Amino acid sequence: MSSIAVRRKICPLLGLFLAVPAAIGQSAQIAPAKPAVLEIQTEKTLHSVSPTLYGLMTEEINYSYDGGLYPELVRNRALRDEGWEQQDWTLLQNKEAGAEMVMDKTTGPSAALTNSLKLTIKAASATEPVGVRNKGFWGYALKPNTTYSVSFYAKGDVGGGQMWPLKVSLVNDKTGKPVATATTPVGGDWKQYQLTLKTGAIPTGTDNHLELTAISTGTLWLDLVSVFPPTYKDRPNGFRIDLMEKMAGMHPAFLRFPGGNYLEGDHIAERYDWKKTIGPLVDRPTHPSPWSYHSSDGLGLLEFLEWCEDLHANAVLAVYAGYSMRQEHVDPGTALDPYVQDALDEIEYATGGPETKWGAERAKDGHPAPFTVSYVEIGNEDFFDRSKSYDGRFKQFHDAIKAKYPSLQLIATTPVTGVVPDVVDDHYYKSAEEFFDDTHHYDKADRGGSKIFVGEYATMEGSPTADFGAALGDAAWLTGIERNSDLIVMSAYAPMFVNVNPGGMQWHPDLIGYDGLTSYGSPSYYALSLFAGYLGDQVPDSTLTGAGPRFFYSVTRQQSTGMVYLKLVNASPAPQDLEIKLDKASGAVGKLLRLHAETQADTNSIANPKHIVPVESPLPLAGPSLHHTIPGFSIEVLEFPGKK
Ligand code: AHR
Repeated sequence: MSSIAVRRKICPLLGLFLAVPAAIGQSAQIAPAKPAVLEIQTEKTLHSVSPTLYGLMTEEINYSYDGGLYPELVRNRALRDEGWEQQDWTLLQNKEAGAEMVMDKTTGPSAALTNSLKLTIKAASATEPVGVRNKGFWGYALKPNTTYSVSFYAKGDVGGGQMWPLKVSLVNDKTGKPVATATTPVGGDWKQYQLTLKTGAIPTGTDNHLELTAISTGTLWLDLVSVFPPTYKDRPNGFRIDLMEKMAGMHPAFLRFPGGNYLEGDHIAERYDWKKTIGPLVDRPTHPSPWSYHSSDGLGLLEFLEWCEDLHANAVLAVYAGYSMRQEHVDPGTALDPYVQDALDEIEYATGGPETKWGAERAKDGHPAPFTVSYVEIGNEDFFDRSKSYDGRFKQFHDAIKAKYPSLQLIATTPVTGVVPDVVDDHYYKSAEEFFDDTHHYDKADRGGSKIFVGEYATMEGSPTADFGAALGDAAWLTGIERNSDLIVMSAYAPMFVNVNPGGMQWHPDLIGYDGLTSYGSPSYYALSLFAGYLGDQVPDSTLTGAGPRFFYSVTRQQSTGMVYLKLVNASPAPQDLEIKLDKASGAVGKLLRLHAETQADTNSIANPKHIVPVESPLPLAGPSLHHTIPGFSIEVLEFPGKK
């Protein structure tokens, strides 16, 4: 079982791009004179296909959650990011110029949020208000006739026990005029305030900001200021609708979370400490992430699980295993015990009944029903741990988890000695050429040991999102994954998301790009969606002869219907003629889905989101054989209604 991780990334510390390979060569190729012959013997099944073969991997990177899937509009809402006063919050001064805005580290609304924004006003009136402004994540993406839920914590001292009328407005940057406003009296000790703001017939746009303004003199403290748009399935504290729809379009069988490097953190103190990400938002202290920005943890453990629930995907829960990226580790033994206990508690929070300690916490957090978790991954990329402590750390987690949850499948992040993991997670970041050369990677791999999870892979071409050359690399690689789907139980592309606004990206390429308003799928997104959407449960025997270079295929069949799904990848510029021979053709018309581009550099973008999308056409297969030409630079799915 090999575990290969080729690191090609923007170093989060240095902000540098490291070793991104060149694009595929453009050399012209000539189609072979005779058609290649592909014979599919549906009568002869080689093995079954893992039902969880295609899924998703996620972590907080490229503003995936804050500024992305977690649709909070207020940036730095809990005032925990460094440089908060210049970058995210600014003072709205009046003519008197006597107001002051500072960070107050002596008071906050909870034990978790212990600092706040302090606004001191010496002179203000209805015509000369004073307040604060939040610029949002690259503006506030607002839509017409939409209701936004506002919440904030405030403490106010006007003198004489009076209340402040505090006005909350969404304001257009260009006109300076509010597009939605509401006012509430605030005052006294820390308390949560909730309002709604409804826009009218405004144009859809991102050139808006938030203002909170007061007309009284005195002192006002603010924290955890939130403006939330409508969410997918109307889930409170839920997810951005278009991004959930994009993921649903990939037919994911599972979601691996919370990372990735985000699980490990740069330092042990900055790991994904799940207990600090649950419960009311005001009790979540937030934390620094390794991808150079602070995480609000609004999308915490419960939200990850609800995300799985909304997509009908299994949870592949990664637990922190005592290693962080700056070579900090916890030695196996008693020092590691608290981390093992944290993992056991985490599994109980996700899967325990409400009668268990942590299941009861989950019920208190609003979800009495346990979630289903079948796989638990212990750590992330522990081959980077130079202390070589993973063998011992893995065994300690493994033994404790198996003792309490014997049916859980445990995933090691690199091969280990001393215990045979149920599954090993392999990562591949390669050029398209390297993937073309490696599609047979698992063909001869040992079937007697651990199963394989290809937990991260990507063809490293295209920015911010994968281009068509990358889609060819990814699709070619997936033909090998399908052919070996007896050994490979799961696979996921990484990273999934990127906010394409300036400064939003820490790693490229990514699968799905977005700004505040819209999103798009890369060509790889469509290739992966096709592969997952047209998948049988058996791999029949097949042989290909006479094909040109850079031509790849895989075939699966659905036992219950006899439907045959053939994937073809032509990564050369020349067309490929093919004679497809199917032993049990039904004669019914099938369909062809083609993803094609003129060059490898062709791509989709926020400005041109549907440049490359699958095109569907009927596919008649009257007899047992079909002559088919696949154009150069094409990825195809052919669906044949077969006989049972
Ligand atoms: O996918 C980006 C990063 O690549 C992941 O966080 C890490 O696991 C890998 O090195």
